[in-house]
Amino acid sequence: MSSMNYDERIPNNVDLGSDRRLKRALEKWQPDFLEWWRSVGPQVFSTDEVYLRTAISTQAGGWANFGHVRMPDYRWGVFLADAEKDRVIPAGDDAGSPVWQQVPGEHRNALRRIIVVQADTEPASVEQQRWLADTAPSLYDCRNLFQVNVEEARHLWAMVYLLMAHFGRDGREEADALLTRRSGDPDTPRILDAFNQPCSDWLTFFCFTMFADRDGKYQLASLAESAFDPLSRTCRFMLTEEAHHLFVGTMGLDRVIRRSAQLTKADPNGDARAQGGIDLPTIQKWINHWFSYCLDLFGSEVSTNAADYFASGLKGRYREAAAYDDHRATTGTRTVPTVQGGSLVGQEFPLRLVMNEVLRDDYIADCAKSLARWNRTLADEGVEYRLSLPHRRFFRRQGLYADHPFDLEGQLVDQATWEAHKDAWLPTAEDHAYVESLMKPVVEPGKMANWIAAPPKGINGQPLDFEYVRTDH
Ligand SMILES: [Fe+2]
Ligand SMILES: [Fe+2]
Repeated sequence: MSSMNYDERIPNNVDLGSDRRLKRALEKWQPDFLEWWRSVGPQVFSTDEVYLRTAISTQAGGWANFGHVRMPDYRWGVFLADAEKDRVIPAGDDAGSPVWQQVPGEHRNALRRIIVVQADTEPASVEQQRWLADTAPSLYDCRNLFQVNVEEARHLWAMVYLLMAHFGRDGREEADALLTRRSGDPDTPRILDAFNQPCSDWLTFFCFTMFADRDGKYQLASLAESAFDPLSRTCRFMLTEEAHHLFVGTMGLDRVIRRSAQLTKADPNGDARAQGGIDLPTIQKWINHWFSYCLDLFGSEVSTNAADYFASGLKGRYREAAAYDDHRATTGTRTVPTVQGGSLVGQEFPLRLVMNEVLRDDYIADCAKSLARWNRTLADEGVEYRLSLPHRRFFRRQGLYADHPFDLEGQLVDQATWEAHKDAWLPTAEDHAYVESLMKPVVEPGKMANWIAAPPKGINGQPLDFEYVRTDH
């Protein structure tokens, strides 16, 4: 199963040739996908050769082939991780029973919804990022952006395959709708709010790949623990691609932070902006904005949907099969602070009701590792400033803490306090204008924009001055 067939019109490792109905449906969707890519995919260097990796095997390690490809010629395909022998349902009431190869009737609507919501994020991010190459700080970064874009588009293929293979006509209609919604469009927006936010500068792009793609990792990881085996296998392979996106975010920010520290030191007044860089307090504001937006993506703290998904085995916790002994979670509680009469009061809930909060914990712990890395970079550069994550209650628009102002430490504050501090906590119009003013393209191989440090090494062993994008400009 691990061999990938690139001879067919749609590369795959799911033996598409043996299912003529499905093959026809996907082949009918393919030109619409390409039209979508042309109209709202990357708009700059869109037909130039880019040094991209393409999946050639589902085996861990060495699964990718690198070479220069024009993006419209990228071989988007359908790849599932190898089946796990005798796999059993990892979570919920039926934990330990054999997994499902087909969608059970009673879970059809819920599974379709779960897949559509995940699927919708994939094209959305490509749309959000479509003009970024216009201001890439280097060819190296430009190439990384395009790698993320083609893989997000492949994730769309992965989800559309599931919809078409398992949800009949409804699935085909959902697949068409995925190409008609548009990020940020007031009439036909993408489903989740973070995916309708503009991404017009590279600090935002790095925050997006750091925080939103990392949310994606945790959503995919919880679906990799699904009782519906084709979904699990699809997500397990997507996770191998996702690792690169997270690298782009964590290391991209690390380089901006390093450069910011260097420019802070170089300036007589310690002002990185005076040296044409992005100052650390501005970076902190971007972190505050994107971390809080992405926390919303995990859903409400107390959620009957989350409880139902867990009970029926549609989703598991992060590393459910490997990291837990009790897969039913029918005992145990968690205390969640809730706002009551103007103050925070701890309220106890059964564990299954707080599964979103459990997944959010894993995500926050993962983000904290990147923060620790960046603070090591700051220490390394000899500046005193330290970055931090805001509290999970800060600036939320979903769940128990929406509509209540909290400070960065998670303390409930009054509206006046919020108003007095919000410009110090979150990016202002002036901050956006400043960051955007720095966004000038650098297309000479090996050169970096002034506001970002060079990466420690190139891609796939290539030197930094490699022609990662063969621009005709
Ligand atoms: Fe993705
Ligand atoms: Fe991603």
